Amino acid sequence: MATPGLMARKSVADIVGGAEAGHRQLAKTLGALSITAMGIGAIIGAGIFVLTGTAAAQYAGPGIILSFVLGGIACAFVGLCYAELAAMLPVCGSTYTYTYATLGELVAWIIGWDLILEYAMGAATVAVGWSGYVVSLLKDLGVLVPPQLAAAPGVMVKLADGSGVSGVINLPAIVIVAALTILLVLGTKESARLNNIMVAVKLSVVLAFIVIGAFYVHEANWHPFLPKNTGEFGSFGPSGVLRGSAVVFFAFIGFDAVSTAAQEARRPQRDMPIGILGSLVVCTLLYIAVAGVLTGIVPYAELNVPDPIAKGVDAIGLGWFAVVIKIGALTGLTTVILVLLYGQSRIFFTMSRDGLLPTMFASVHPVLRTPYLSQTLIGTVVALVAAFTPIGVLGEMVSIGTLFAFILVCGAVIYLRRSDAGVDRPFRAPGVPVVPVLGILFCLLLMVGLPLVTWARLVIWLAIGLVVYFSYGRGHSALRHPERQPRAPGS
Ligand code: ALA
Repeated sequence: MATPGLMARKSVADIVGGAEAGHRQLAKTLGALSITAMGIGAIIGAGIFVLTGTAAAQYAGPGIILSFVLGGIACAFVGLCYAELAAMLPVCGSTYTYTYATLGELVAWIIGWDLILEYAMGAATVAVGWSGYVVSLLKDLGVLVPPQLAAAPGVMVKLADGSGVSGVINLPAIVIVAALTILLVLGTKESARLNNIMVAVKLSVVLAFIVIGAFYVHEANWHPFLPKNTGEFGSFGPSGVLRGSAVVFFAFIGFDAVSTAAQEARRPQRDMPIGILGSLVVCTLLYIAVAGVLTGIVPYAELNVPDPIAKGVDAIGLGWFAVVIKIGALTGLTTVILVLLYGQSRIFFTMSRDGLLPTMFASVHPVLRTPYLSQTLIGTVVALVAAFTPIGVLGEMVSIGTLFAFILVCGAVIYLRRSDAGVDRPFRAPGVPVVPVLGILFCLLLMVGLPLVTWARLVIWLAIGLVVYFSYGRGHSALRHPERQPRAPGS
């Protein structure tokens, strides 16, 4: 038998059948509400609680509202494409799986590797944000965490006497990643239940901020709406709005994480589109409102702080509410880390079943029915990255990696409409190919807003991925060794 080339791709029927195969199936426990909550859980996090302020202060001013509109439009086009694929291919694995069905194994591997940036590195980034908020909350409660123990080496922190010193290790980040990893190992249903509660808390806090804050808006703070460009690309003016969009794009990441749960959804064809589009719409509206209220309360130049929303509340003089906001932010950040850790393990699960990763990544605990080995390994690596890496650049890496994945998803929709025209599509993205093409163009536009060095890092990361593929994945691929592939019953 001829060895399949790099462009060899799996058929849609194979993907769906293969996913149902064998006894290593994941439990189907998630309904539409849990999935929407999961989306919101993954979306609202460090983007809105941390990055909105810095992006407004450094790049866009009150125009950050437009940055969110731009990000929301891009994600809406991509979300429609995701919904079509997630309903059509209800298997975990997200963009990776869709790419396997369209552009073949090599590109699928590249995207799977790229998704590590979004999920694992995203989780590490948010864990560092969590650490910042918890240290600030503990301080309000009279507990002082030595700053060196809450920052990575190389990150300068201020001691009580005002002197500066380098961080040593980010312990709170390790604690939160370890705790959530244990929860995920114990069971998806339990994690989803806790997630629903935390999402409710986070939403209440964000809504309270919008409603209460709206009474304290000074319209003068919105003028000038687009501060004059300083002469440098991305520093205020229209290019600042673009750079702001690329930065706060981080805030939208996560709606796609819903697709990684397709195999655990009770009715994926209905629940996937509801979960993806529902969570995206809710979050976009909330972001625009939060950005408007925040820049209306505090002059934008003062927002360059790690906890801008709490600063907004301080500005209106409600001290107790600032504590509530911090608790809400912590809850919000917790759910984001939870969903990202979960998503990463499910992507590895699928890649492992395809033979591109060692089999341990697809091994499911006989009683807990979770991929416990993989989840533990991911938790360990993410905790270490969060503990020891200066995180500044990671957020941008996460954004560029995700935008790259989104472009491929839009491309996959166009391709599959031709190559697999006859396959049932329980949800059809409207206006194909215009909608996916617009999705691609908007994602490219946001990528242009990111610095060149971030592009270079993406290329290096992908090059490392290629080395791994040619030294392991290619030789173990299930496409090349069909006898190792799990078979669907009766096929
Ligand atoms: N969207 C997620 C956040 O803002 C990743 O934290």
